[in-house]
Amino acid sequence: MVKNNPYLRLVNRNNPVSEGEQIELIRVSAERYMEREAGRAMKKMIQAALNKGVRLNVVSAYRSHKYQAELIEKSIAERMESGMDAISARKETYRSLAEPGTSEHNAGLAADIMCENDTDGDERFENTREFAWLRDNAHRFGFILRYPRGKEEITGFIYEPWHFRYVGVRAAKKIKKQDVCLEEFLRQEN
Ligand code: DAL
Ligand code: ZN
Repeated sequence: MVKNNPYLRLVNRNNPVSEGEQIELIRVSAERYMEREAGRAMKKMIQAALNKGVRLNVVSAYRSHKYQAELIEKSIAERMESGMDAISARKETYRSLAEPGTSEHNAGLAADIMCENDTDGDERFENTREFAWLRDNAHRFGFILRYPRGKEEITGFIYEPWHFRYVGVRAAKKIKKQDVCLEEFLRQEN
């Protein structure tokens, strides 16, 4: 199954996206773009949520390598401005931002979804009705919660209730049912 589904591709620090990779992008909202199939699924999901009165705010989707690098530099600078030393600032930043080229955002397969007036990744997002809707429905559109709580050691990232990754409907349903992260799922499929 993994072989037949390119959307199960693992993107992490050991499996980067090359900078020259051609990705067909479509617009999902305002200035946000995603890979074509992932983007179509995202648009459907946004509409389905809206039909239930839930407004999903896609605050970040496809990112170039350069943009990912800018986000990292900004995060490090902000942490240092709040008094952190350079080493700790870098270390903390890499707990929630993947190095350029190793982010699923670089592949156009991930989106950060928050509440209408929210743009900061914050664990408290899990207490919102937007998150509750995503938790119960995202798999129906092919999306998984990519960095779950309790899987930090395996994924290498903090719990990110806002980061959703497209893998296709069949795989997303299985992953949700098995309550595993993508690394674990791929390990057992191979
Ligand atoms: N926040 C996730 C790990 C990323 O930067 O891709
Ligand atoms: Zn993200």
